[in-house]
Amino acid sequence: MSLSSLPEKYKSVTLDLLATGATQAVPGWGNPNAEIMFIGEAPGAVEDKLAKPFVGPAGKFLDQLLASIGLKREEVYITNMVKVRPPGNRDPEESELEAYKPWLDEEIQMINPKVFVPLGRFALGKFLPGQSISKVHGQAFKREGKIYFVMYHPAVALYNGSMRQVMLADMKGLKKILDNDLSDVQEPGEKVNEIKEMMEKSKEKEKNGKNEQVGFGI
Ligand code: URA
Repeated sequence: MSLSSLPEKYKSVTLDLLATGATQAVPGWGNPNAEIMFIGEAPGAVEDKLAKPFVGPAGKFLDQLLASIGLKREEVYITNMVKVRPPGNRDPEESELEAYKPWLDEEIQMINPKVFVPLGRFALGKFLPGQSISKVHGQAFKREGKIYFVMYHPAVALYNGSMRQVMLADMKGLKKILDNDLSDVQEPGEKVNEIKEMMEKSKEKEKNGKNEQVGFGI
């Protein structure tokens, strides 16, 4: 099974959105051996026309973000949660995210990147459910040997110019990871262990305290 066979394999999945006016599926694009995978939301009008992800206005800004840390799109892999343009660029629906999940999961297996960059809240929801993008953008998390570096969706900067600087600043964190500096990468498991340890210690203290009281009573 190869990346190029995926559109054919998941042809039936694309039918619902094609029926709403999209012209074709937009598969992932880029280096099949990429170490970094960027995951957006769903294609827009330009992507629908060219069958290539992130080639419209948001894609142009993504190119600038990549260039800001010395990357070219040919070096990375870029894909979307949903592979067909939703009507009027509306948000993807839960049923659509679910329907396209096997396609994305298969891409992930084939590319097997070291670093995932969820772009925006929909991709964030897949990789780090329960996290809020406004809290964790620009931050990196390690889970089961993979690193997840969270970014706002580049389209956000098209509507709100001040977000350009925020996103350019966030990219510096990704550069650090690519330079093998993992000092800012958070391992949620470690934090959980820390909390468990603290709870155990306080339980022990409590127990000892009780024992002492029993001792006093004797
Ligand atoms: N927005 C996305 O999420 N993906 C694209 O491919 C283009 C715009």
